[in-house]
Amino acid sequence: MRGLPVTSTIAEGAGRVSVDDKAMINSRADVNQLLPLKYRWAWDKYLAACSNHWMPTEVAMQADIALWKSRDGLTEDERLMLKRNLGFFATAESLVANNLVLAVYQRITNPECRQYLLRQAFEEAVHTHTFQYICESLGLIEGELFNMYREVLSITAKDAWALKYTQSLEHGAAEDDQDFLRDLVAFYVVFEGMWFYTGFAQILSLGRRNKMVGIAEQYQYILRDESIHLNFGIDCINQIKIENPHLWTPRFQAEVRGMLTEACELEVAYAHDTMPRGMLGLSARLCEQYLRFITDRRAQQIGLEPIFGATENPFPWMSEAMDLKKEKNFFETRVTEYQTGGSLDWD
Ligand SMILES: [Fe+2]
Ligand SMILES: [Fe+2]
Repeated sequence: MRGLPVTSTIAEGAGRVSVDDKAMINSRADVNQLLPLKYRWAWDKYLAACSNHWMPTEVAMQADIALWKSRDGLTEDERLMLKRNLGFFATAESLVANNLVLAVYQRITNPECRQYLLRQAFEEAVHTHTFQYICESLGLIEGELFNMYREVLSITAKDAWALKYTQSLEHGAAEDDQDFLRDLVAFYVVFEGMWFYTGFAQILSLGRRNKMVGIAEQYQYILRDESIHLNFGIDCINQIKIENPHLWTPRFQAEVRGMLTEACELEVAYAHDTMPRGMLGLSARLCEQYLRFITDRRAQQIGLEPIFGATENPFPWMSEAMDLKKEKNFFETRVTEYQTGGSLDWD
């Protein structure tokens, strides 16, 4: 049996970790020691994410199945929107998860951030599970849903745009920290922070009309998870900026603004593809207005000036939908039970 050189990668006898040695990227402090904590915000997000635990299989799907199978329960436009929405998310969750474990995890050299990344990776698996469960419940064609990102042009365009940022990390030099910042912007700010929001608005507006209420409930839980993912990504970007001000050059800022503008255009094309005609109080035009509002908000969150100057949110009900407590009469209490069940009594 080959003996493992267990001590060769451990700095035997090295001094204890000091908070000042810890850093977001390129840290020389031991990544295996969670304590002492440096970034309380990362640990707090880990705790908040654990309190929000849910599983898609706990959501009843009977009403959705009945509506989906009834001949006139949904209009053709609603069916198209729903399928393209599910088709985008079915693989988007995997793209995000793969970027997380194959690119982000390697570059972030801080253990409390990695602790959150591990939790986030599990949540992305739960989200992918949601689309498997919806596919199975409604009896959708698996290939139609999961291969859609290679068949519907506006989805291919979005995913290809994001993937190039992961690929540049795979092929680029390990020390190119601007490449890593671009990847964080592409996935946390754009993918999870902008592109998921048209999809959330579409499904939640179906739910508000008492249609596909099971899927709408699942999307609310996903939205709650995603809002923490987004905020974690923004905290990471801003902390990396503080620690590495040389990366955040005026030229780089202009490039990031260009990325957000492109991402908004790609999403508007997707909104047209999913909703060629208006429905449910939504239209591609209103989605464009909403996306511009979201884009400006994201720019501001990472310290950039607004891109569109869009001040009006055409879907104010979206912020209410993010607060699950306000909707407790409509939704099952299961998630709340998880939260109180967080402290088990072993006596
Ligand atoms: Fe997700
Ligand atoms: Fe996410």
